[in-house]
Parts: sequence; C-alpha cells; structure tokens
Amino acid sequence: MQEEISKVLVLGNKGQLGFEVEEYLSSRGYSVVGMDYPELDVLTGDGRDALIGYLREVSAVVNCIAFTDVDKAQDPDLRDAVFRINADFPGQLSRACAEAGVVLIHISTDYVFSGHTARPYREADTPAPLNVYGASKLEGEVNALSSGDKVFVFRCAGLYGVKGPRGKGANFIDTIISLSQDRDVLKVVDDQITSPTSCSDVARAIERFLREGMSDYGIYHCTNSGAVSWYGLARFVLDTIGWQGKLLPVGTKDFPRPAPRPAYSALDNTKIRSVVEMRDWQDAVEEYLRRKYPERLLK
Ligand SMILES: NC(=O)c1ccc[n+]([C@@H]2O[C@H](COP(=O)([O-])OP(=O)(O)OC[C@H]3O[C@@H](n4cnc5c(N)ncnc54)[C@H](OP(=O)(O)O)[C@@H]3O)[C@@H](O)[C@H]2O)c1
Repeated sequence: MQEEISKVLVLGNKGQLGFEVEEYLSSRGYSVVGMDYPELDVLTGDGRDALIGYLREVSAVVNCIAFTDVDKAQDPDLRDAVFRINADFPGQLSRACAEAGVVLIHISTDYVFSGHTARPYREADTPAPLNVYGASKLEGEVNALSSGDKVFVFRCAGLYGVKGPRGKGANFIDTIISLSQDRDVLKVVDDQITSPTSCSDVARAIERFLREGMSDYGIYHCTNSGAVSWYGLARFVLDTIGWQGKLLPVGTKDFPRPAPRPAYSALDNTKIRSVVEMRDWQDAVEEYLRRKYPERLLK
C-alpha cells in the first residue's frame, strides 16, 4: 500500500503538529514536502500556485494550518481572517485535492463541542461550539467534507509536541514545567476536562491511515485514550518530575479569559482505535517528558 502513498504534502509543517507529522512520515520512508507561512499564506494567496503544483505530485495532503489562538480569535477585527483560514481554506483545499485525486487529512478540534455532556463525545454527536475558534473549525470540517471526496477529518484535543505551538506560545505541559521552575505555588483549572494528546501519536495514526490505504472517509476522534482536567494533567506532570511545590485546583471563573471553553470536551476514540492503537494519555505524557525533559525526570 505504501508505494501508492509515498509522497505526502504537509501543510503547516513548521507548526507544533505539522512538524511532528513531517518528521514521523519522513522517518517511515515517505517523501514529504512541507509548506507553511510565509511561503504559503492562505490569506493573501501567496504560494497557491506552488501548492497546486504539489497536488500533481503527491498522493495525500495533511492540513495542519489553522489560526490556533483561541482567545485572540474572539477579537472582532480578526474574525474574518480566522474564518478564512479555518473555514474557507479547508473547503478550497478539499476541492483542489478532489480535482487532483488526492487524499486529504484535515485536522480539527474538540472545541467544536459545547461541553454540556457527561460522557466522551462520539463522532456522530452534534457539535455546538462556544467560541469563534470552535465555530470556524466546525465550518472548516463541513467545508472540507462537502467539497471533496477522499477526506478524513481528525479531531484532536489538548495537543502537545516537542516544538510547541507556533500560533499561541508554549503548549500546556511546557508552560507548567516552565512555571514550576520559578514558583512554589501554582493554580490550575480543575473544571475543564479534555483528552490530552501527543502530536507524535497523531502522526502515527496519520501514517497508519496512509499505509493501510484507508477508504472509510469521514470524521475520526484522534486523541490519546482517557480524560483529565488541566489540573489533573498538571498534577501528573509535576509528580513525574518530582516538583516539591504546591498545586492548587481552581475554577474557570477564577481565570476569566476572552473565549469561553467547553467544561467537558473529552473525545471518544473508539472508532479510530479499530484502525490504530491510541495509548492512554498518561503513557504518552511520560514519553513526551522523557523525550523533551530527560534531565528533569525522577530517576
Ligand atoms: N494546539 C492544540 O491544543 C490543538 C487542539 C486541538 C486541535 N488542534 C488543531 O491542530 C492543528 C495544528 O495545531 P498546532 O497546535 O500545530 O498549531 P500551530 O503550531 O499554531 O500550527 C498552525 C500553523 O498554521 C500556520 N498558519 C496560520 N495562519 C496561516 C496562514 N494565513 N497561511 C499559512 N499558514 C498559516 C501557522 O503559521 P504562523 O504561526 O506563522 O501563523 C502554524 O505554522 C490545527 O488545525 C488546530 O486547530 C490544536
């Protein structure tokens, strides 16, 4: 199968997820071409011709491009740009992929859901985003799926990767570790539950779909298994590195931010696990800490 999908275009390859997707696919023998801002700017159209040219050479495209700063996206002055990047571009890309006969794997988010539930969301559950970012990403899913044919939408959540996100500073784990170096007391919200997910595990899932030549297109919840609050994740990270300070659980109301966030956006990953193993979030976090902070780990 792999011979058919040997060349892959990774869009957003300088970002947190795209970087790991490019690295992993390359390590598995794929020929990877990457494009990212500024050589490709989906707002101005710069790089569009080069992108169309690549579509004639590749068998699959992984789209990791997005406006990812959830709070900034609430700014009314940025709304148009947010929707053009997160909603319009996936539709245009999907159409171009269909014309070229290319598989598209488009990355989306748990923030398409409202969080008003008590069990992990399944792919068939009705989205109802609470913020502009989530609304734009939901429109992007719909546009990608309706404009093309060989389209996978992978919904991820709480992503962390060695490079850190380009669009919004450090990822959560890196932020907690950095703060723990300077402070004796940390406060983290305990009333937002998600499924923290390793970028390298998303990259592995993408590779498996390509290798298997999967043709059961549609939406997949691509997360590590299990769910935890941001406080619970911080507790796990800080215990693993042996931090001696005090970690306090606080409520979302104590940390007002521009964008409302779902209280519960854990994703049920049963569907994708019929194709690829998605390990428990704890195992993935441990591996990340070993990889990025080997000197901080308890012996
Ligand atoms: N991070 C999370 O916790 C999380 C959770 C769930 C889902 N996701 C989804 O996962 C995907 C990857 O996110 P990430 O964490 O890897 O974020 P990231 O590091 O911010 O990567 C996004 C990439 O898109 C690029 N980009 C933004 N505007 C662009 C434009 N106008 N033209 C071309 N490229 C542009 C960014 O470049 P610049 O930075 O230079 O603009 C960046 O390289 C996104 O679809 C996101 O919605 C993320």
